Amino acid sequence: MGMASRNFTGGHLKMRQVLTNTALCVIVGASTGACLAQPAAVTLNIQLDKPVHTVSPTLYGLMTEEINYSYDGGLYAEMVRNRTFQDHGFGGVAHWNIEHLGNSVASMAIDRTEGPGAALEHSLALDVKQADATNRAGVRNEGYWGMALRPTTTYKGSLYAKADSADVGPMTADLVNDNTGKSVASATMPGLSTEWKKYEFTLTTGKIETSAQNHLLLTVGHPGKVWIDLVSLFPPTFTNRENGNRPDLMEMMAAMHPKFLRLPGGNYLEGDQIDERFDWKNTIGPLVDRPTHRSPWNYQSSDGTGLLEFLEWSEDLKIETVLAVYAGYSLKGDHINPGPALVPFLQDALDEIEFATGDASTKWGAVRAKLGHPAPFAVKYIEIGNEDWFDKSGSYEGRYAQFYKAIKAKYPQLELIATAPLKRMKPDVLDDHYYKRADEFFADVKHYDNVDRNGPKIFVGEWATREGSPTTNMGAALGDAAWMTGMERNSDLIVLASYAPLFVNVNPGGMQWESNLIGYDALTSYGSPSYYAQVLFAKYLGTEVPASSANGAAERFFYSVTRDPGKSAVYLKLVNASSVAQPVEIEMTGASNVASAATLETLTGATLAQTNTISSPTRIVPVQTTIKGAGTKFSHTIPPYSIQVLELKAK
Ligand code: AHR
Repeated sequence: MGMASRNFTGGHLKMRQVLTNTALCVIVGASTGACLAQPAAVTLNIQLDKPVHTVSPTLYGLMTEEINYSYDGGLYAEMVRNRTFQDHGFGGVAHWNIEHLGNSVASMAIDRTEGPGAALEHSLALDVKQADATNRAGVRNEGYWGMALRPTTTYKGSLYAKADSADVGPMTADLVNDNTGKSVASATMPGLSTEWKKYEFTLTTGKIETSAQNHLLLTVGHPGKVWIDLVSLFPPTFTNRENGNRPDLMEMMAAMHPKFLRLPGGNYLEGDQIDERFDWKNTIGPLVDRPTHRSPWNYQSSDGTGLLEFLEWSEDLKIETVLAVYAGYSLKGDHINPGPALVPFLQDALDEIEFATGDASTKWGAVRAKLGHPAPFAVKYIEIGNEDWFDKSGSYEGRYAQFYKAIKAKYPQLELIATAPLKRMKPDVLDDHYYKRADEFFADVKHYDNVDRNGPKIFVGEWATREGSPTTNMGAALGDAAWMTGMERNSDLIVLASYAPLFVNVNPGGMQWESNLIGYDALTSYGSPSYYAQVLFAKYLGTEVPASSANGAAERFFYSVTRDPGKSAVYLKLVNASSVAQPVEIEMTGASNVASAATLETLTGATLAQTNTISSPTRIVPVQTTIKGAGTKFSHTIPPYSIQVLELKAK
């Protein structure tokens, strides 16, 4: 994951020397040479023996949905794009092309009368007028902005096919390098039959160079008509799960130390229209039984990441699921009134909860067991809808109450999250969303300090500093870090928090929402500065918040302190969002001994605009060092534009 361990060099070292020698002005970064007044020191008093409250053990988690090609073309490892031919392109068949080799003659078209099952009622028809063993005809798929191939790796393929005559013979699958035209792996399936059948094949590469400039080619060597559907190709996946996820992205999430996964959205839960909601029953079971659906982010979702895959994703990361259920409101404003009309949707939600949490003796628990997962999943929170403050009909109060009554009657142990403030009842938890600029977060850092503790608990279910695109920059990371200090200080009230959006495919056309946490293409992935801020905040999180105060706090200086008495650890998070270094005097009481050696992790940028990209993925990454001279009272200087975490050992 590229968390480098290197020493400070260049600008920061230079800046420190200037501070020490003159204490009059500092050099900003390495190059500008601007001379600015040194701010006064902030004094931090920390009373280790005075815990104010405990820290929510589930504070930091993940929020996800199908946006920015998060699953298709992202986490979901499928390499074939538009595998069921339902994407709408500008003419032709999106992401597929005809290929006639030599003097073969063929054409392709969508056939709406032929499909391998009730869920997939159309297919791609390949009409081959002329072909033979050396003059083959077929179709090629371009993948999600290419197909990443690595040396000596096995790719598992499958497709559904039928032919108008057995004479068409076998179909061959090749992985072809775009630049050389050479096949780097090839497999021939058994002869096609005149009935729809599933064919499986494996393609193993040799000593090739790792590259995403490859495509999949499917050909036949005999005239005739061939129909294909659900064409699939998978690389090795995380823990080798069938129909699974990209290992690099799973590892990046694991490094965030998340405690939960909020799924399946966001707008994606609601759909633009009611019939475009995340209709979970259409997303389970064999892929051939999943009809796919349009996501509100304007592309077709393959639903390869269906409900069971979402739950397994939580399981693979060893975290809880925060399950959001569709509650009768869709984005373009359609809603279902509370009362009898809502009952089928409520029943779907109850079934969904049973699918996730019921044992194999329950109806939907048995369906899950039959699909290969007998053990129930760990779910504590159910979210009723998403951003229902958009529902101007005023129906949410009644919809929430109806869901609450029915879910609590069957599952009293579950905590139910409301997505809009309620007037007539107190929800268990309220989901608040914040998308802001860094300055707005700086100004709002005390947002929860005086919120009534007798009201609902808070889930900050979506939040982000929106600066930088496609992924955020250092300025955004500073806004995020400042906001997180406020969330930690209020982690008695805030039980869950998750940044959004999590993922973006950085290829042209891959992004629907600017400012995201993790970027990738077919081959590689990287974390934004905001990603590393998340990593640091979640990695160093204690179990309680001790009393503390800051005197002489400068503009754009923020801090949080938590401690874990069981580990004798104190985690001091320091955020300096200013362009000059910030001296801090730290005083700790209530501990008989604070070790002089402390671990320091620093995330810093030369400017607010500096960022990581797919081609420069590690410009801004945490740097770990050890400082000497810590104790019950010590001085420390935070470099400009920096987020630092000090792990102190205190007894
Ligand atoms: O995170 C992007 C979108 O922002 C989510 O889908 C939605 O809930 C919010 O408006």
